[in-house]
Parts: sequence; C-alpha cells; structure tokens
Amino acid sequence: MKNGRFPEDPMKIADTQMRSVWSISTPAPSDKEFGKHPTQKPLSLLKRIVAASTNEGDIISDPFNGSVTTGMATKILGNRQYIGIDMNLE
Ligand SMILES: C[S@@+](CC[C@H](N)C(=O)[O-])C[C@H]1O[C@@H](n2cnc3c(N)ncnc32)[C@H](O)[C@@H]1O
Repeated sequence: MKNGRFPEDPMKIADTQMRSVWSISTPAPSDKEFGKHPTQKPLSLLKRIVAASTNEGDIISDPFNGSVTTGMATKILGNRQYIGIDMNLE
C-alpha cells in the first residue's frame, strides 16, 4: 500500500503510508460497460481492498456478488482465485 500507485486518489501521496481516508470517485462509465447495477462499487476501490487484504494464492469470496466488482478486482490483480455468490441469477 505504501509503495503502490493510486493515481485515482488525489489524497494518496506516492511512497507515503496509506491514509485511513481514501478519495475514490463513484464507478467510472467504463465500470458499467456490461450493464448497470444499482449499488455497484468502484473497481478502483475493490482493487485496493483486495490488494491490501490478500496475498497471492488466496481464494477471495464475495457472497454478495452483485456486478462482480470484487471478482474483476481479483482477476486484474492476478494469482488469486475468486468465488462469487448471489441470490439474484441476473
Ligand atoms: C450491494 S449489492 C453488491 C454490489 C457489489 N459489491 C458490486 O460492486 O456490484 C448486494 C448483492 O447481494 C445480493 N444478496 C443480498 N442478500 C443476499 C443473500 N442473502 N444471499 C445471496 N446474495 C444476496 C443481492 O442480490 C445483490 O446483488
């Protein structure tokens, strides 16, 4: 987190400790490329959460899958597996 690059967050200064307050915008239009979900989270937020809280080789599960933002973040980070669960088949 300290050495990562987070250009979407104007509050994160390069090579300084991660702050406890993050500045991340609502989902970008590109996040909604495959359809809209009413409570979709920003991909940049989930990428940071998954990177901060998992290691390579881990299995990440989101039992409230929604539009699969956590799964996309896992795929982008790589070297992790993902299990998504949702009561809504759509
Ligand atoms: C807040 S949305 C998830 C949004 C997701 N994090 C994203 O970024 O798109 C919550 C999801 O949980 C699902 N859900 C709610 N209660 C559930 C339950 N008891 N079991 C499985 N899925 C559930 C809903 O269908 C909905 O898609």
